[in-house]
Amino acid sequence: MTNAARIPVARPVMEAVDLAQSYNVSRGLMAKPATVKAVAGISFALAPRSTLAVVGESGSGKSTLARMLTMIETPGTGALLIDDVDVAGIDAKTRRRYRGEVQMIFQNPYGSLNPRQTIGNAIEEPLLVNTKLSAAERRERAIDMMQRVGLRPEHHGRYPHMFSGGQRQRIAIARALVLRPKILVLDEPVSALDVSVRAQVLNLLVELQESLGVAYVFVSHDLGVVRHMADEVMVMYLGRAVEHGPRDAIFDDPKHPYTRALMSATPVADPEAKKERIVLEGELPSPFDPPTGCAFNPRCPLAFERCRHEAPPLELKAGRLVACWAVE
Ligand SMILES: Nc1ncnc2c1ncn2[C@@H]1O[C@H](COP(=O)(O)OP(=O)(O)O)[C@@H](O)[C@H]1O
Ligand code: SF4
Ligand SMILES: [Mg+2]
Repeated sequence: MTNAARIPVARPVMEAVDLAQSYNVSRGLMAKPATVKAVAGISFALAPRSTLAVVGESGSGKSTLARMLTMIETPGTGALLIDDVDVAGIDAKTRRRYRGEVQMIFQNPYGSLNPRQTIGNAIEEPLLVNTKLSAAERRERAIDMMQRVGLRPEHHGRYPHMFSGGQRQRIAIARALVLRPKILVLDEPVSALDVSVRAQVLNLLVELQESLGVAYVFVSHDLGVVRHMADEVMVMYLGRAVEHGPRDAIFDDPKHPYTRALMSATPVADPEAKKERIVLEGELPSPFDPPTGCAFNPRCPLAFERCRHEAPPLELKAGRLVACWAVE
């Protein structure tokens, strides 16, 4: 079964068609290596200047998807279209041309910053490698980008350790955007930050999207974080999309039992809002041995016989894509 169902978009900046990735993992000396299907067929079309949020518990395949979208990893199968070119299938040299179009932000900004490099040089480095700009032009662009992310020009000569976690993430954002990519993939960009600075970084991302016209794929395990940013939300479970649709459809009227469970685990701004509480029981099943039928069936309060042997397709129902036999 392919998972090519996606919500149509007029002129997408990126299109994923049934992207999948498996890993062979050794399980000790005596055991045969096992295969993990980290991503088992993800499709979407990303509109320019829009945000697709990808949410799901840890282990659902979000980071693997992010690595494929940024061409850090070549997809096992499927297509990744940028400007109508399948960059998953092209040679390494041509792929390099498209690399500049898609940049990535990681959870831990320390990991992506060299402690011995000034932040000015870190932000200028992509320009040095990928453009023919002069030193003065590079510096000008770096300072401009630093100001856009809320850093001051005098920070140019300082080192990463002199900054707080939130500021370091601003530095990483400046470095990722200095080449003016069309797409920024953010993998849990605020999860490592203090709650008090999260909103500031999220607001900054919203502003930058408006001023630079960049599209985001925003990965988070926390639905609450993406609520105000997302145009579309895709909910992943064990490598597959179980529900994907416009933000308001997903937040105001989630249909998939897993989305509803994630939602009831997310604190709401309005404590008066009545919420049907669905408690997620049990752990995410082992990805080595996923359940047959609907992968969510061992934890699903609505599961019935069919769910245990037949996987529901991702279909357009009630204004979103959803994979569940119980949704009309
Ligand atoms: N390089 C890898 N080698 C083997 N297994 C991996 C690798 N990367 C991810 N996995 C497995 O793939 C599944 C999805 O992981 P990941 O994409 O990191 O999910 P998430 O980001 O949602 O937590 C997990 O079971 C994980 O253990
Ligand atoms: S298909 Fe069945 S088990 Fe899966 S989410 Fe729907 S009701 Fe639950
Ligand atoms: Mg992850």
